Amino acid sequence: MTPYFAQDGVTLHHGDCREILQGLGQQFQTVLTDPPYGKVRGDFDQAWTNRRAMLADVTQWRDAIVDRMTANATLWWFAWPSLAGMIEAHIAERLNPLAHVVWKKPASLAQKHSPEILRAPGPETERILMFEQYGADSWALGETGYAHKCDEARGMVFEPLRAYLAAERDRAGFSTRQVAEAYQQKTGSRTVTGMAGHWFNSVQWSLPTEENYYWLRGLFGGDVLRREYEDLRREYEDLRRYFALKTGQPKTDIWEFPIATTDERLGHPTPKPLALIRFMIDISVRPQTAILDPFAGSGTTLLAARLEGRQAVGIEISERYCEIAANRLRQKLLF
Ligand SMILES: C[S@@+](CC[C@H](N)C(=O)[O-])C[C@H]1O[C@@H](n2cnc3c(N)ncnc32)[C@H](O)[C@@H]1O
Repeated sequence: MTPYFAQDGVTLHHGDCREILQGLGQQFQTVLTDPPYGKVRGDFDQAWTNRRAMLADVTQWRDAIVDRMTANATLWWFAWPSLAGMIEAHIAERLNPLAHVVWKKPASLAQKHSPEILRAPGPETERILMFEQYGADSWALGETGYAHKCDEARGMVFEPLRAYLAAERDRAGFSTRQVAEAYQQKTGSRTVTGMAGHWFNSVQWSLPTEENYYWLRGLFGGDVLRREYEDLRREYEDLRRYFALKTGQPKTDIWEFPIATTDERLGHPTPKPLALIRFMIDISVRPQTAILDPFAGSGTTLLAARLEGRQAVGIEISERYCEIAANRLRQKLLF
């Protein structure tokens, strides 16, 4: 597949994301995207004659995106306030909703709404929906099928650590049952079943606490479990879904950011502000990894990724917007 643009770890493909995504031989830990809203101006937004048609496209986009997500991935999806609930419910059939962020725009925008014309409160916000693979990080909620999906994802995400613990247990000549019985004696619990199974099985896998890890080392004796706990903990952090807020960054689900500046309006009707996208990349994309934006528009995500020291892959269906994005990237990446 020949990209429309490729430079310094940033690649842009021209075409329908449903087709391009199928041909991408790459999985991503973060997808950040701003699909057509079905609401605001822009030629791409008049594509649907009814809501059902829009949701049919959302379903296809979602499925094509989920296929490209790693087991520990995050998906950010921008949505128009009045449609966000519907879209969230649709995506939640495949992914676990984590947050419904309200992007609050400057209050001055409210002056643009004329009270004589309004028939409902005028929007001063957009929504940014956040999802993860089921169970990649959060706890099971007891919904039908949910625990199973969680176990599958947790099994995949943390398999290297689970495999290490299970192999060391084998080397020490213990069964999980024997560990569980020893743990029962240690804790004085009334039942044998308990935490011990979770350290070795992919079903509801969990990392032992530091205390329990060193207790296991003592139990097994000899030359097993020689990795230090801190080393294990670091690997655990590297494997799990990345989310790294820094002091001073918004901690809640209300984010106040200005809309795109005049400089950022390059002929695309709905560009996102670079500062907002840079912030989202900073907190949710592991350094030096690649981010995917299947609705790249004027290339804001691609540029922001590069400025934040990440790689990026974008897809855009309109050749005109591809050209705008490529020109923007060529100019801004000359450093
Ligand atoms: C809301 S805009 C994204 C704007 C972008 N966030 C920015 O900052 O410039 C959505 C974009 O998706 C593109 N698009 C629509 N359907 C698409 C599809 N099936 N595959 C790829 N791109 C598509 C549109 O041409 C439009 O540029």
